[in-house]
Amino acid sequence: MTPHPKSVLVLNGPNLNLLGSREPAVYGEQTLAGVETICRDACLAHNFTLDFRQSNHEGLLIDWIHEAGAKQAAGALAGVVFNAGAYTHTSIALHDAIKGAAVHLIELHISNVHAREPFRHHSWLSPVAQGVIAGFGVKGYALAITAIATQ
Ligand code: DQA
Repeated sequence: MTPHPKSVLVLNGPNLNLLGSREPAVYGEQTLAGVETICRDACLAHNFTLDFRQSNHEGLLIDWIHEAGAKQAAGALAGVVFNAGAYTHTSIALHDAIKGAAVHLIELHISNVHAREPFRHHSWLSPVAQGVIAGFGVKGYALAITAIATQ
């Protein structure tokens, strides 16, 4: 009997609902729905179920990280892929949530934040992430799911 598949939570923070129309030269032309399809295909390939969410609200993202920690502790969650958008560079609260929930999390950025404005070079999430994927466009989401599958 195949064991019940674990899920992967893909979390998207502020302004990522605008993908497709938002600065296409930086973020590409794929919509968030297109990103969800990329994630669903990658999850299928690794026998994960997908939980795909987006919010513009920091507190809701924190609640979802806490929920993910409980799910991971129960053995039902393989990991989290988190594109926190600009909260990456501002949110000590998200840093604390990831640390407090002890969740296995990959920080994801569509653009190469280190090749952009200096205010994007610091991340509050990197010290509590397992790893960081940045600069590979929306394909980075599939790379992150593969990374979760290989750990
Ligand atoms: C981003 C990079 C952040 O600096 C920016 O605020 C975003 C998107 C990315 O995916 O490249 O909203 O996380």
